[in-house]
Amino acid sequence: MRTRIDPADGLRGELRPPTDKSLAHRAAILGAMTTGSVRVRGYLEAADTNSTLAAVQLLGARVERDGDALVIGGVGLRTAVAPDAPIDVGNAGTLMRLLPGWLAAQDGRSFTLDGDASIRRRPVDRIAEPLRLMGAEVEATDGRLPPFTVSGARLRAIHYEMPVASAQIKSCVLLAALGADGATTVSEPAPSRDHTERMLAAAGVDVRRAGRHITAGGVEELRLEELVVPGDPSSAAFPLAAALLVPGSRVVLRGVGVNWTRCGFVRIVQRMGGIVIGDLEEQPGDEIATAEPVTDLDATAGPLLGTVVEADEVPLAIDELPLVALLGCFAEGETVVRGAEELRYKESDRIATVVDGLRGLGATIEATEDGFAVTGTGGLRGGRMSSHGDHRLAMLAAVAGLASQEGVEVDGMGAAQVSYPRFLDDVARLM
Ligand code: S3P
Repeated sequence: MRTRIDPADGLRGELRPPTDKSLAHRAAILGAMTTGSVRVRGYLEAADTNSTLAAVQLLGARVERDGDALVIGGVGLRTAVAPDAPIDVGNAGTLMRLLPGWLAAQDGRSFTLDGDASIRRRPVDRIAEPLRLMGAEVEATDGRLPPFTVSGARLRAIHYEMPVASAQIKSCVLLAALGADGATTVSEPAPSRDHTERMLAAAGVDVRRAGRHITAGGVEELRLEELVVPGDPSSAAFPLAAALLVPGSRVVLRGVGVNWTRCGFVRIVQRMGGIVIGDLEEQPGDEIATAEPVTDLDATAGPLLGTVVEADEVPLAIDELPLVALLGCFAEGETVVRGAEELRYKESDRIATVVDGLRGLGATIEATEDGFAVTGTGGLRGGRMSSHGDHRLAMLAAVAGLASQEGVEVDGMGAAQVSYPRFLDDVARLM
C-alpha cells in the first residue's frame, strides 16, 4: 500500500505519544516471571507488545484487563510451561532477545522461538553465547539466526563482558542472572538503556552498578506490585523532528519518558541548535533509580547546525539515528554518525535503508561501514520511499514528506503499527 504525505504548512498543538515499547516488553516478561501478579499501567497497545503478551500467555502467565491497566498473573521464575508450538515473536527483536534469559532457567524444558521474515535475519548468537556460558543450550539456524531453541538448565553465575553496547544482551543476561546460583556480572562497553536494572531494583532485587559493570544476584522468587509505563521517547522523536523541520511549527509532547539513557536524541538535537525544552534526567551515577522520569517536551521549528555523533552516544539514541540523518539534510554543514554498525541489525539494515531512502528524496548522504555522513542542503525535494517493513523507516519517510518540497509517497506505511499505530492520525491533528 502506498501512502502520500504532503508537505505541511506548520504543525501546531500537543499530543501524547504512545507508551514505551521497551518498557512494555520488560513489564510483560518480568510480570510473567513473578510469583503473584503485577498491575501495569500504560501498557503499549501495538503489534510488537501484543506479541509479548501472547508469548507470556503461552508460557503460562495470565493476562487480564482491569480498566486502563493490565494485570499480569505470573507463572514463577523457574516454572514456565513448555508450549507444544514455537513461540511466535512476530517482528519484536526485544522480545526475541530478552525472553530467552528467563527461558534459560527452566531446567529440563525446551522452547523454540521464531518470527517474521525480518526477525529471521536478526542474529541471536549474541545472546546464545552468555546463556551457554551459564549452562543453557541454544541451537540456532546456521548457528546464529531464528528459529532457535533454548533448553533450560540450572544456571551458574558468570561474569560476561559484552562485545557490543546492547541493552537487549545486557537485559537477557540480567534476567538469566535471577535464576542462577550466585551473583552474575555483565559489563558493557558504553552505557545503554537501563530500564531492566530499574525494574529489577523496583522489585527489590539486589542489583548494583559499578561503572560499566552491573551485578545481580540469583533469587528464589520475584515479586512486584505495579509498573507505570511513560510515553515512548523513541516514538515521540518522530513528531518532535517534524516540529523542528516544518517552518512555523510548535508542538508539545506530553508525558514523555526522559530516562538519561533514552534522551540521547534530544541532546543531539539541542547541540544542533534545535529548540526543545523539557526537564531531561541528568546523567545518573552508580545508584540505580527505581523510577522512570517523565516530562513534557516543547519543540519549535528553527535553523539547525550539523553535528558529529560518536560511538559512546550511539546506544543512547540508537533508534533515533535515522532521524539524525533526516535533520542533517536540513542542517547547515555536515552531520556524521560513527560507531553505529548496530544499525545494520535492526528491523532493516538501517544504514542501507536510511541512506538509500533519503538519497531517493534528494539528500546528499553517504553510507559508511559504521554510520553515515550527510551534507545539509537546507531542504529535501521529496519523492518515493519504502519502509522495507521497518516501522521506524515508515515514520521517517512520513516526517520527510511533511518537511519536503514535493511530498513523499511511502510504500509500506502500515509498518508503523509495530510501535505507533496512530502515528498518521496524530500528525493530522497537528495540521
Ligand atoms: C532495545 C534496545 C535497543 C533498541 C531496541 C530496543 C531494548 O537494541 O534498538 O529497539 O528494549 O532493550 P540494542 O540494545 O540491541 O541495540
